[in-house]
Amino acid sequence: MSQFRASVQQDRSQSRVISQLQVALSNESPDEALKTVVRLLRESSEYYDWVGIYLVKEQSLVLASYAGEAETEHVTIPIGQGICGLAAEQERTIIVPDVNKDPSYLMCFPSTRSEIVVPIKGASRVLGEIDIDSNRLSAFTLRDREMLEETASMLATYIQNQGSTPQSQESR
Ligand code: SME
Repeated sequence: MSQFRASVQQDRSQSRVISQLQVALSNESPDEALKTVVRLLRESSEYYDWVGIYLVKEQSLVLASYAGEAETEHVTIPIGQGICGLAAEQERTIIVPDVNKDPSYLMCFPSTRSEIVVPIKGASRVLGEIDIDSNRLSAFTLRDREMLEETASMLATYIQNQGSTPQSQESR
């Protein structure tokens, strides 16, 4: 497939995912909505191998929902620690093209080669983040980043409208 065709297909599939996410966030209960979001994101790309949503509770990030083959031992991450903690502290998206070269990286799965962490920014503070691990080196592109930042913005609206953060934790 040509690079152009591949990128057109990726755009279409990402627009479709955003629409599906909007439907899930409008219609599903808080417990179900985050499960659906991580599942849809994981299914949206062959290189999104583990997708998690962490929510900020006091000074930590707490895993609320994930889709992936395995559980992570990092269900609570202090703000400032790991790539996840840094993204929350610095309120910015972090892409790590090669996790083995980043000293801040906290390992969850030996198969992971690259990672993206996108903060979910509320009106006055970071509410949580989307964390995706890929088994592919340098997997994440500008398009991934844009789509995930749009998703994070939808999640911020959703969480703020809930008034309190959802509690669910789910696998697969
Ligand atoms: N690698 C992350 C920890 C979370 S796991 O990837 C699920 C980090 O460095 O913060």
